[in-house]
Amino acid sequence: MNWGNRLMLNLNDFSLNEKGHLLIGGCDSVELAKHYGTPAYVYDENIIRRSCRAFTSSMREHYDGKGMVLYASKAFACKGIYRLVKEEGMGIDVVSGGELYTALSADFPAEKIYFHGNNKTAKELEMALKENVGRIVLDNFEELKRLDKIAISAKKRAKVLLRIKPGVDAGLHEFVKTGQIDSKFGFALETGEAMQAAQVAMKSKMLDLVGLHCHIGSQIFDVAPFEYTAKIMLGLMADIKEETGRELNELNLGGGFGIPYLSTDPKHPFENYMAAVSKVLKSETARLGLKMPYVLIEPGRAIVGTAGLTLYTVGSVKNIPGVRTYVAVDGGMGDNPRYSLYGAHYEVICANKADRPRDLVATIAGRYCESGDLIQENTRIQKVQEGDILAVLSTGAYNYSMASNYNRVGRPPVIFANQGQHTLVVKRESYDDLIKNDI
Ligand code: LLP
Repeated sequence: MNWGNRLMLNLNDFSLNEKGHLLIGGCDSVELAKHYGTPAYVYDENIIRRSCRAFTSSMREHYDGKGMVLYASKAFACKGIYRLVKEEGMGIDVVSGGELYTALSADFPAEKIYFHGNNKTAKELEMALKENVGRIVLDNFEELKRLDKIAISAKKRAKVLLRIKPGVDAGLHEFVKTGQIDSKFGFALETGEAMQAAQVAMKSKMLDLVGLHCHIGSQIFDVAPFEYTAKIMLGLMADIKEETGRELNELNLGGGFGIPYLSTDPKHPFENYMAAVSKVLKSETARLGLKMPYVLIEPGRAIVGTAGLTLYTVGSVKNIPGVRTYVAVDGGMGDNPRYSLYGAHYEVICANKADRPRDLVATIAGRYCESGDLIQENTRIQKVQEGDILAVLSTGAYNYSMASNYNRVGRPPVIFANQGQHTLVVKRESYDDLIKNDI
């Protein structure tokens, strides 16, 4: 790590200003904390756009068949991000009526929306059909029948994909070729369920089966599981062609591209991903006598993760001799439940002392009435005191979108910072917001 006017954390390069304050999107994070209050989520808009472009250009450069990058909006959903993604020419993946509603209210083009989820309600399916979403990704036989019925009564055809469990379990470490996978998502390959689903969907007059989808996990750094999965999925497409005489022409390979959270984490290889997977798609389609499919990929975390940070104010520092030091902040599991849920790691920086060495080992505790409400245990930060501003880095994905109102604490605002300018994209929830549905 270099100390000077840059903070090299291997996440993004963070600049510091002459006061030693951490900058984000060219804005002084300490000034942002003063202006918007804390806690607050702040995104560097340029980093989001850079990530979008890295995916879209690698798709263009490496894949001969056509394709589209979909932003998996469960990672961070609000009108502001849907507008940005639309400007970047990408599509989106939504998993609920709520995400769909938000996207549509941001004027996101419906034909570029892929509707996922393992248990979409009849209401959600009706809404998706009525709003003409591009694709509905079917997860199970009941859902398939549910949509068929809805399409018949609406007299409207639906373009669908089938979610397949390809028998690959991938995550941060080694991937596992399980052959069969214990997951609530999708149709199983090994039992013949996937083939049967294709046959049932093809028999329907109102469902237009255009392709297959899979998603093998999250925080994956290696390209090998993606290559292997592409092979498996093309194999299934070939089997379906042989069995039914129909060739499907869309292949959605899901998301899951890993990002660094700690300075010791590897950097994401998504620039290599498309090149590696394209090679497999080319050779396997040639071998199997298939056309190059229209390919979709669905990065969520890799689009927004490292672009965001959360600002907090330190309220107290409790040193328990021989045990540990607790630094309590004005947020916690309500705005970032990932440490209490997954033991997720983050780098923490004192934003107003970012040029000083991180020589205190402390546990960052939240303000919620729960002892498991921690942001990070035994992490290195600068020596801090009441009133200091802490920045928790790489909180752009699955923080705001997983936030709750536990203890009736309003969710923090979201700010986009770009080249020294800042814009509020989501307001802080007020006390009135908290009671607006109470009767
Ligand atoms: N496509 C599908 C069908 C998915 O289920 C997911 C994520 C993605 C794409 C995007 O995956 P990503 O590129 O963001 O890894 N709450 C957890 C992550 C859950 C991911 C669920 N599915 C976390 O905070 O780590």
